[in-house]
Amino acid sequence: MNVTVEPAGTLRGEIRTPGDKSISHRALLISALAEGESTIEGLSDGEDVRGTLEIIRDLGATVSIVEDHISVRGLEDGLHPSDRPLECGNSGTTMRLLAGVLGNVPGEHHLQGDPSLSQRPMDRVAAPLRAMGIDMSGLGPRMLPPLRVTVPRGEIRSLEYTVPVPSAQVKSAVLFAGLAANGVTEVAESVRTRANTEEMLQQAGITVVSEDCGDGRVVQLHPGRPQPHRWRVPGDPSQAAFFIVLGAIHADAAIEVVDLYDGPERLGFLDVLERMGAAIARHTSPAGVTVRSQSSDLVGTTVESEEIPSVDEVPILAVAAAAATGTTRFRDVAELRIKESNRLTGTIELLRSLGVTAREEGDDLVVEGAGSASTFHSFEYHAALDHRMVMSAAVAAAAGRGGVIHGAETVSSSFPSFFDDLASLR
Ligand code: S3P
Repeated sequence: MNVTVEPAGTLRGEIRTPGDKSISHRALLISALAEGESTIEGLSDGEDVRGTLEIIRDLGATVSIVEDHISVRGLEDGLHPSDRPLECGNSGTTMRLLAGVLGNVPGEHHLQGDPSLSQRPMDRVAAPLRAMGIDMSGLGPRMLPPLRVTVPRGEIRSLEYTVPVPSAQVKSAVLFAGLAANGVTEVAESVRTRANTEEMLQQAGITVVSEDCGDGRVVQLHPGRPQPHRWRVPGDPSQAAFFIVLGAIHADAAIEVVDLYDGPERLGFLDVLERMGAAIARHTSPAGVTVRSQSSDLVGTTVESEEIPSVDEVPILAVAAAAATGTTRFRDVAELRIKESNRLTGTIELLRSLGVTAREEGDDLVVEGAGSASTFHSFEYHAALDHRMVMSAAVAAAAGRGGVIHGAETVSSSFPSFFDDLASLR
């Protein structure tokens, strides 16, 4: 599907993003592992999370969609293997978290994904899970999907593991498998990544001890079975980032994004934008953090990799950098190459189509800002099965001189109402 995004004259209004994607996946998985009924309010309506929902059904959990919440009932004797492949679609989070969750489900499992996910390495979860006694196989040395995961009957081995690249997905896979282990599992990370798995398992009654250690953290998890819980999912800050950047780079905008999850590992992009001179106001309430963003003159900056540990917000920050005065350098963003698409080359291609100079320097992304979005060229962009690239391109088009986005349907994997929400601001 092609979407043409026209330049926007004035942008005003309030946006409510879908429920946080990371919390939504985990709420479904933890509820499925528990015995009895859990409820989830505010679950993301994106296709990635829908895929996780169908998978827990395939594994035997009962899921009903009630008016304003989802009810998940886990089985007394636990989940069981499905007789059909577990379809992870476009979602790396589904596949990597699931690989760990399956440590609690003895038997043989088959996991598959779409053409984008089929290019993404799963060796990062296979290495620790194999050490715990779970057999995993995939294609080639980087272990590309489809995957076969074979889990022995009885306990698996506990593990002390240092995650080699900052990755919340790898940390989470090990912790989920650790629920079924024969002792305490310990995961160390050198940079603090999102803490949803450890926080939510603790809320579900599992003993988890988490300690900060320099820039990183060590998490110890005792085995056990999660208890049912009533989950409330706040808004997704990574989706809010698109509208917050739009507010900052558009010439006549005031946009508010409400009730967002406020985990510090997820809000580094706000600090970066503030450092660039964005007029951003944050207001915290029990429902989450609300962010108001207004037209601003931005200046370039250097973004250290620890500021955006999972690099999700780098493409949209690169669009902000394209509208800024001066150079912006994103340091050590090699992980961009193995997301839903190669976001390093994809971002450079998008920025060049706007008439902005951008390049790779080793593992850094360097952007020479144009000084204002009003100088962006009108463009065409192909979004290679990558929702965040669709939204980044749409923001550049609305703030600049418009553009055509090919493959825009992929936006539904995380934010089905994105284009309607964008239209509501005009
Ligand atoms: C996620 C972790 C991140 C992020 C992804 C969601 C999660 O990946 O990119 O969108 O929910 O655990 P990393 O594993 O690279 O941190």
